Amino acid sequence: MQKLIDQHGRKIDYLRISITDRCNLRCCYCMPAAGVENKKHSEIISYEEIIKIVKTATQMGIKKIRLTGGEPLVRKDIEVLVSELSSLNLEDISMTSNAVVLAEKAELLKKSGLDRINISLDTLKKEKFEQITRRNYLPEVLKGINAALRADLKPVKINMVVMKGVNDDEILDFVELSSQKEINVRFIEYMPLGGEAEAEKFMSTKETKNLIETKYELLPAVTKGSGPANYFKIEDAAGTIGFISALSEHFCSSCNRLRLTADAKIKPCLAGNQEVEIKGMSRAEIESAFLKALELKPACHHLDFTEQTYHRNMSQIGG
Ligand code: GTP
Ligand code: 5AD
Ligand code: SF4
Repeated sequence: MQKLIDQHGRKIDYLRISITDRCNLRCCYCMPAAGVENKKHSEIISYEEIIKIVKTATQMGIKKIRLTGGEPLVRKDIEVLVSELSSLNLEDISMTSNAVVLAEKAELLKKSGLDRINISLDTLKKEKFEQITRRNYLPEVLKGINAALRADLKPVKINMVVMKGVNDDEILDFVELSSQKEINVRFIEYMPLGGEAEAEKFMSTKETKNLIETKYELLPAVTKGSGPANYFKIEDAAGTIGFISALSEHFCSSCNRLRLTADAKIKPCLAGNQEVEIKGMSRAEIESAFLKALELKPACHHLDFTEQTYHRNMSQIGG
């Protein structure tokens, strides 16, 4: 039964669950160089509790689940969680990962019931990867992407956060990647949400599209997904291209999601500071917490490079 319709008429059927705030990378747009203090293990939501919450959420209208982090694959026994989720009759179970340790887990995740995966990758160059993520795991990530394709975690999507003067010189290389492999490359507008949010690095979807169109015609395309991307492809390509215009053309009026944080709070909006506690609750209390979060869901985000007022970094939200 669909109980999750907010006061702006938006139907919520997608829950993003951050299962850990820890990460094996230190991406510059996501957390400060010094990292962020990890929550204590005792504060982190248990798998048992996640399943209990999801069971209630499905009765209220949630049909799609995405597991995020930090980096979800650093949490122990994640395949056990995936397997339990897969017994709950969800339409779609997906994950967003940096793929550093995906190569060794892709097949097991697929067997456990994971449908598909989105992978964060902002550069194909070794030195730049180190500059952006402050770690040197590019070869592992590339192996992870191939393993995801082999394990049929499709559509496999790559999330590239476009940053002017940092990786905009590689936009056409990523378009070519989407042409050669069955990969969906999404160009994401850089959001001021953690890390070193610098306005001069912002590049709008319009600018990215203009650059691509100097060489290729963008044809309309369709790709499976629950998120805000608009999809295109270039002629004869194996994969597709998506654009996520979080700032220049925000998609808040069609927002379909809530978030569950790794320390057991429901977050009505990625960019807002409102949160609703959900730890250690009965089913009836969980239901009330979801309804409360729905009430607090803002019509629109107010992300801004000049006035950064958020309490959590992206790594503590999961995108
Ligand atoms: P699909 O189901 O594959 O469409 O997934 P998705 O695009 O919803 O998920 P993913 O985790 O890959 O997120 C891609 C980008 O969209 C990230 O940069 C997220 O931060 C951003 N994003 C996801 N949800 C929201 C949202 O509600 N608001 C904003 N502003 N950005 C979002
Ligand atoms: N702006 C836009 N996207 C971001 N992500 C992380 N931080 C930011 C940011 N500041 C993306 C990552 C990851 C997804 C969960 O969110 O690329 O794929
Ligand atoms: Fe880690 Fe993802 Fe944040 Fe990068 S974007 S530091 S991979 S949580």
